[in-house]
Amino acid sequence: MTLVKKWWKEQVIYQIYPRSFQDSNDDGIGDLRGIISRLDYLKDLGVDIIWLCPIYDSPNDDNGYDISNYYDIHPEFGTMADFDELLAGLHARGMKLIMDLVVNHSSDEHEWFEESRKSKDNPYRDYYFWRPGKNGGPPNNWNSIFGGSAWEYDAHTDEYYLHLFTKKQPDLNWENPKVRQGVKDILRFWLDKGINGFRMDVIPCISKDLDFPDTDIDDFNRVIAEVYANGPKVHTYLNELYESVIQEYDVMTVGEGPGISTAVCLDYVGHDRGELDMIFHLEHMFLGHGPLGKFDPIPFSWEDIKVIFRRWDKAVGDSGWISVFLDNHDFPRMVSRFGNDKDFRTESAKLLAMMVLTLRGTPCIYQGSEIGMTNVHFDKLEDYRDVETYNVHKEFQERGVSTEDFVKLVHDNGRDNVRTPMQWDDSLHAGFSGGDPWIRINPNYKQINVVADKAKQDSIFGFYKKLLAYRKQYKTFAYGVWDEFKGLSENLFVYTRTDDEQFLVVLNHSEEHESIEFELEGYHLELRNLENKMETVLLPWEARLYRKV
Ligand code: GLC
Ligand code: CA
Repeated sequence: MTLVKKWWKEQVIYQIYPRSFQDSNDDGIGDLRGIISRLDYLKDLGVDIIWLCPIYDSPNDDNGYDISNYYDIHPEFGTMADFDELLAGLHARGMKLIMDLVVNHSSDEHEWFEESRKSKDNPYRDYYFWRPGKNGGPPNNWNSIFGGSAWEYDAHTDEYYLHLFTKKQPDLNWENPKVRQGVKDILRFWLDKGINGFRMDVIPCISKDLDFPDTDIDDFNRVIAEVYANGPKVHTYLNELYESVIQEYDVMTVGEGPGISTAVCLDYVGHDRGELDMIFHLEHMFLGHGPLGKFDPIPFSWEDIKVIFRRWDKAVGDSGWISVFLDNHDFPRMVSRFGNDKDFRTESAKLLAMMVLTLRGTPCIYQGSEIGMTNVHFDKLEDYRDVETYNVHKEFQERGVSTEDFVKLVHDNGRDNVRTPMQWDDSLHAGFSGGDPWIRINPNYKQINVVADKAKQDSIFGFYKKLLAYRKQYKTFAYGVWDEFKGLSENLFVYTRTDDEQFLVVLNHSEEHESIEFELEGYHLELRNLENKMETVLLPWEARLYRKV
């Protein structure tokens, strides 16, 4: 298949977690007017597409990923007029907006579910999955992704309902055409407002095996891939959304891809499929997760990371597309997880930036990465907010893990690592809010903040800005073939991107000095992350971008 050119392959996504980006009215919660006040910051950085995590009405059991009204803005975030102004402000600056579409499940406070639970013959009953219990327990042995059984008993009708996430996130039954019509209506409502696309939450999970068989797989990541995702009708449903709504608009769709492997990725993102434009595959995000998931850590290496990027580049080839990212609102800070946030924070944050912005795929940057924000280490469980942390804590307690030990696991892998507020300056609450924030600020905000970073000669923000501007000059970064140099030191990741131009990226992702044993003749050094007089020796975490002249 020949290369398909699209605007969303050439641009860069920036993800905003609205609760933690900027508060405008001092209630401690980030909001739409806060984002509006930072649009010039985003434009100056040079990103193109803003992905907004959910801002719809929600009881906030899972911070907005439990939606009670898809047509309304949560009052904490503002009003529909604020939203319209935000969208217009982005478009006026030549930027785009994609929204989070969370339709694998709704909130249990959505009117569909409130009706559904009323009686077995309620017209909304089969908007969700209700099943009788088995042997005095739930219908099967599935576990929720956030801990505990995936079934909740409802005494009112003496049946259980399915929730792959929290019990306040009942799974929608896509078998029901009325549910699919409801989703199409939501799509159309927002697309008609002029948004530029959707990020589709846990989209591979929308089709279930209606026999709901027990599973005997004990590795949780495999359960997700083999039981919860890639269900029998997922492609029929995605294709239906595309055919009946999405194709009428010039928009981009990116699916969150839990359980999507290289073996099946083109079924979702093949250019001829009429399903999704790209996915956020999570394979490298699940690295280091043991059989019980993220709070059951196992070691992983950079070789594992490189193997995954290699495999995915080959799998999508010219026939599909992916996004490239190293963190988001569900995983630890990339500089803490893949870099070195202590002795080489600046260097490694920049190296990772260069990697994300030069691999093949649409880059996605999570808020705060552009100043090298790090994981947070709260001592007390009470300082955490994430429902996943609390649910898994309960489960681990039952297994005999002490709270003290559990908190240490949260330090490395909890989702709140990336959800502490954006650090704008060194004033009270880091310039995020004039009031007490909904979650504590990372105490390192005095050193790490936008104002302090920008003031430095070796600013991370400045490096992102340069890279983003540089990337815009050459379509090679979007369409050029990716080729890796093989047989080098295991501390190096070296590759080229080639079309009419050629770029060479040299990354030393280690604390060692490394020598360059390949030809640099004919290459001009365009960008680097640190000062180094030695041409053929790389300093720890050194990153260079060359252009063939
Ligand atoms: C996705 C979201 C995550 C959320 C979950 C349930 O994984 O990224 O934040 O908790 O889906 O909606
Ligand atoms: Ca607010």
